[in-house]
Amino acid sequence: MKDIFDKLNERMGPLGMHADEAHGYFTFPKLEGPIAPRMKFRGVEKLTWSLNNYLGLANHPEVMKADADAAAQFGMAYPMGARMMSGNSNYHEQLEMELAEFIDKPEVILLNYGYQGVLSAIDALVDRHDVIVYDAESHACIIDGLRLHIGKRFVYTHNNMESLEKQLVRATKLAETTGGGVLVITEGVFGMSGSQGSLREIVALKEKFSFRLLVDDAHGFGTMGKTGAGTGEEQNCMDGIDIYFSTFAKSMAGIGAFIGSEPHVIKFLRYNMRSQIYAKSLPMPMVIGALKRLELIRTQPQLKAQLWNVVNSLQNGLRDAGFNIGITTTPVTPVLLNGTIPEATHLTLDLRENHNIFCSIVVYPVVPKGVIMLRLIPTAVHTLEDVEYTINAFKSIKNKLDSGEYRKEKIASFA
Ligand SMILES: Cc1ncc(COP(=O)(O)O)c(C=O)c1O
Repeated sequence: MKDIFDKLNERMGPLGMHADEAHGYFTFPKLEGPIAPRMKFRGVEKLTWSLNNYLGLANHPEVMKADADAAAQFGMAYPMGARMMSGNSNYHEQLEMELAEFIDKPEVILLNYGYQGVLSAIDALVDRHDVIVYDAESHACIIDGLRLHIGKRFVYTHNNMESLEKQLVRATKLAETTGGGVLVITEGVFGMSGSQGSLREIVALKEKFSFRLLVDDAHGFGTMGKTGAGTGEEQNCMDGIDIYFSTFAKSMAGIGAFIGSEPHVIKFLRYNMRSQIYAKSLPMPMVIGALKRLELIRTQPQLKAQLWNVVNSLQNGLRDAGFNIGITTTPVTPVLLNGTIPEATHLTLDLRENHNIFCSIVVYPVVPKGVIMLRLIPTAVHTLEDVEYTINAFKSIKNKLDSGEYRKEKIASFA
């Protein structure tokens, strides 16, 4: 018999296997100081493009004040317990009502965390007879929800409607034999590529197939659509999204999440989502702070307009400079370069240490072998000067990468 702890070294996984070299620099870096486009990394100010603070609300004075006032009034503990038992409040219910109105869904359930919320909603909504059909690039929380599903599931090629139709034919046949239904799951905005889920096309398939649609719109809420109500609004098909999910972790710059749907679905979720029934409800400062954030999203459209100014200038500038930014149609901005993992290491060091730019670097296995993806998250509080500076720095690192300079360098020590 083996000791479980002894085996862990052999199973560190694709991220953990680099822990010794990467910890503190590439992984678990500490960004210090107030949340802003410029934060300190290892004591030096860096232009930061890796925070999902899309609308700049994290450090907005009205948000900071609302958070602080609520913490002073209620502390961080109130209300104690799960919502169902002892953790409910008028504020929780008010936030649910205001969110429902904003996304134009009859009812909303507040969730204490997005990740658990999604997986637990999937767990609650389907039983062994039901079939799930999901996009191949779905977020880990969706994949973990699928793991809990004891019925069948079929994956379709990312955003490929032909593949989805094929899987819907299979799923429908199967569900007819089991007496179950079909749930399709996708995302509003895919957080790595920045592509939008083809929501309108998926909704149109309801004419041919019978299914319910769950959309995880973590990156779309606040950033997409005329009012910021998300990718359903952007694609004018919110009515066809049966279960709309988003988190407070991105545009809302907080913690928590929510699902909007029909009243009887929300009632069902309130009484059947294990992650909510058996876990503490959101503390009051998060709830009151979320009400303030939502008010700002609703009443200050200039925040989203400013975000898109920065997005457009960054994405157009990168394209004009010859960069491959893939197929993004959202603020998420991937810059795709060709190189090996050691080259990615040198390039990151150059970018961070010499150009003082901090962004996420994504390599194999998240992207194909030989691809280096620099992932930029523009926000409403970046400036056009930040954009220009970054594009110039990127031109410099791309020249070095293409001329093979990062192949010659020795790995510098950053530990
Ligand atoms: C697509 C998507 N879904 C769900 C989540 C999880 O949300 P939370 O951070 O609120 O747990 C994230 C990340 O935050 C995400 O990117």
